[in-house]
Amino acid sequence: MTDHNHIQFEIALFQEGDQNKIRPILEQIGWAEAYITAFEKAAITFAEGKDSAVYLANQAERCIGFVFVECHSWNNLAQLQGLAVHPEVQRSGTATALVVKAEVFAHSREMRGIYVDTPINNSGGRCFYEALGYQLGYLMPRYYEANLDGVTYQKFFE
Ligand SMILES: CC(C)(COP(=O)(O)OP(=O)(O)OC[C@H]1O[C@@H](n2cnc3c(N)ncnc32)[C@H](O)[C@@H]1OP(=O)(O)O)[C@@H](O)C(=O)NCCC(=O)NCCS
Repeated sequence: MTDHNHIQFEIALFQEGDQNKIRPILEQIGWAEAYITAFEKAAITFAEGKDSAVYLANQAERCIGFVFVECHSWNNLAQLQGLAVHPEVQRSGTATALVVKAEVFAHSREMRGIYVDTPINNSGGRCFYEALGYQLGYLMPRYYEANLDGVTYQKFFE
């Protein structure tokens, strides 16, 4: 059990059926239905994959956050494929604990580092990655939508 700023939670590996726990978090954040459905499917794919993992942050009866991590063998870099924390408990260290778990997974697979894509206007997410020592790698014009660029953050394990 981890205790950050009076929030207690446990980080656990995704279990069968856990995709239902991801939906309430994304609904509260305000994501569109198409993205939520895609993430529910992605959770199952990454949980079942031999080079990927899904971790959930569980607080008593409810799930308060999740991370998907995938290792790419062609360049030995891991990728955060999804990360979100329930708005009611943000800024309590939950995402930090989830990303540390993803980094440990990447380390265990002998990855050189880890990267993540996010929309350029996701200022909260960008501040979060910078706070964890990730550095801006590159800009991807029109990556998410015609009018929405992406940015990539990277952290190399020295
Ligand atoms: C980004 C997100 C995952 C952060 O989750 P979190 O559990 O609140 O993050 P933490 O509590 O571990 O934050 C650690 C540090 O990151 C920084 N940080 C986190 N969120 C921040 C924000 N909104 N604005 C500025 N800095 C932020 C702070 O330095 C924070 O430390 P502090 O609270 O002591 O100041 C969460 O805001 C979220 O789910 N956002 C919506 C989905 C999203 O953007 N996902 C990631 C990008 S794809």
